[in-house]
Amino acid sequence: MPKVQAVIGSILSLIAVGAAVAATPGEEADIRAGNNIAVTSCVACHVVSANQAVKPVLGAGIPTFQDIADRPGTSAESLGAAMKSARWHEPGMAATLLPMSRLSDKARGQVALYILSLKKQP
Ligand code: HEC
Repeated sequence: MPKVQAVIGSILSLIAVGAAVAATPGEEADIRAGNNIAVTSCVACHVVSANQAVKPVLGAGIPTFQDIADRPGTSAESLGAAMKSARWHEPGMAATLLPMSRLSDKARGQVALYILSLKKQP
């Protein structure tokens, strides 16, 4: 009997380790919220997901969220900073047209988590 308990114990601890590396329920809610923001506010200029039906119509050379996620240096911090500092390639276009600079800190964090969730697992 004790042997069975030890086996069950080690299985349970393996499950606990697995759960620790996956997104927590709170993070999953934030990723979903970030996805909502992306599909409602970002699709005019970015491809935000692999199954995006309507291609972006504005601007040229604007990276897809997948490309942004896959860059080695991408982190929640780098995304937060990039969303505030991103500018058009065409100098005449107003930065106020870029919605990511107007997001609340909370929304910016959620959309950053969503972008990070696209990163391909090694
Ligand atoms: C009106 C067009 C437009 C919309 C809408 C838009 N973006 Fe952008 N975004 C841009 C442009 C232009 C850049 C700068 C691209 C570059 O520097 O190559 C950019 C850059 C970014 C970057 C930095 C990319 C990098 O290269 O590091 C992030 C992150 C980003 N946008 C997120 C968002 C999010 C999130 C939304 C929706 C809330 C959004 N964008 C909506 C035009 C837009």
